[in-house]
Amino acid sequence: MSIIMVAAVAKNGVIGKDGDLPWRIPSDLKHFKALTTGKTVIMGRRTFEEVGRPLPNRRNIVVTRSTIDGVETVPTLPAALALAEGPVALIGGHAIYAEGMDHADTIHITRVDGAPDGDTVFPAIDPARFRLVEERPGERTPRDDYGFTFETWRRAG
Ligand SMILES: NC(=O)c1ccc[n+]([C@@H]2O[C@H](COP(=O)([O-])OP(=O)(O)OC[C@H]3O[C@@H](n4cnc5c(N)ncnc54)[C@H](OP(=O)(O)O)[C@@H]3O)[C@@H](O)[C@H]2O)c1
Repeated sequence: MSIIMVAAVAKNGVIGKDGDLPWRIPSDLKHFKALTTGKTVIMGRRTFEEVGRPLPNRRNIVVTRSTIDGVETVPTLPAALALAEGPVALIGGHAIYAEGMDHADTIHITRVDGAPDGDTVFPAIDPARFRLVEERPGERTPRDDYGFTFETWRRAG
């Protein structure tokens, strides 16, 4: 089963602030949609609350100790992975990414060219476990708060 992680990460590691993204980068949302459409997306409860509704054209599974109407919920990441069929995308937040390091074969990072304040960070990528295999500049439009680069990391060995 293919398991990818998808995250937008600032130069200081920040991914979130006050339950939201610390930036508006519509071009990256398109990239996120392309990477995740057709897959099962697995996310933590706060990330689901930020998105506000199940993401369309994807099976949505939310990791939480409670239940949420209108979406599949499970108490742990392994339970979510056991439930998923076909390709999976882990889409945050911090604990899902940290635990996901043991499961993901590929990590897609949008490296945001800024260092905004935030309260949630992406966990360190262990260079012994993942290798940076591609770095591609993104095309910034006037609607994007920052420039960005698309990085692909693959599990080493
Ligand atoms: N830049 C990006 O790419 C990106 C991506 C995703 C999110 N974000 C940002 O990150 C922030 C949200 O992330 P977060 O780390 O604060 O929260 P989160 O991981 O989305 O949600 C945390 C909640 O999820 C449940 N949970 C997560 N991992 C679990 C585990 N291993 N076992 C059991 N339950 C688990 C718990 O829910 P219960 O308390 O309900 O039990 C926990 O309180 C927001 O600011 C969001 O905008 C950014």
